[in-house]
Amino acid sequence: MSNVKSGAEAWDARFSGKGWAYGREPNRWLEERISPLTPGKASFPADGEGRNAVWAATKGWEAHVFDLSPVGQNKCQSLANENGVEVSYEVDDLETREFSQEDFDLIACSWFHVPWDMFTIHYPRMLNSLKIGGHFITEGYHTSQMEMSSGGPKSLDLLWELDEVMDTIGNGFEVLHAAVETTILDESDLHRGKAHVVRIHLVRSN
Ligand SMILES: C[S@@+](CC[C@H](N)C(=O)[O-])C[C@H]1O[C@@H](n2cnc3c(N)ncnc32)[C@H](O)[C@@H]1O
Repeated sequence: MSNVKSGAEAWDARFSGKGWAYGREPNRWLEERISPLTPGKASFPADGEGRNAVWAATKGWEAHVFDLSPVGQNKCQSLANENGVEVSYEVDDLETREFSQEDFDLIACSWFHVPWDMFTIHYPRMLNSLKIGGHFITEGYHTSQMEMSSGGPKSLDLLWELDEVMDTIGNGFEVLHAAVETTILDESDLHRGKAHVVRIHLVRSN
């Protein structure tokens, strides 16, 4: 049985539990790469229950989220309240969202997998909302994650090949890091254990 969930209802169902589906702490790769940066205006696309955006807000970032899930929005609000910070969260779809141009100092997302046709058209549109000099940081599952039990969609159409991702989004960016890595995840029961991931950190150059 596939665990691919693409509609808002499926994500709402995943986020309807009492706990946080992917934990309350930020994604470790995002935390490591964002921590040395000077806080500014940041977009956290598809941040689900808001763990990355809320953490960034506690570090001084002006944090904005868009995501399909209204339940995720409520969970993010609750986490933001607990931490005494504000996060702007719009329920919206990558496919239809209108993006501002050269607006953000940082765009960061973890596990934002969409069908490849959607990725090729809409990730570049999303990245146009980054200022020149702005950072794009992401972690996603590699195609070789298919055989692993530490999370991620069981569909090659949603998983990432590094070369294909970089061919799609790398033009006009300086590459600070772009690699397939084996790591040990410990985010939640859904993302725990040895995993094959793609880790990317780019800076917009034009
Ligand atoms: C695996 S979860 C990751 C959530 C969060 N980034 C994290 O690491 O905790 C994937 C998220 O992508 C969102 N998502 C999927 N397709 C989307 C789309 N087309 N537009 C906006 N959000 C989407 C889902 O609602 C869900 O919150």
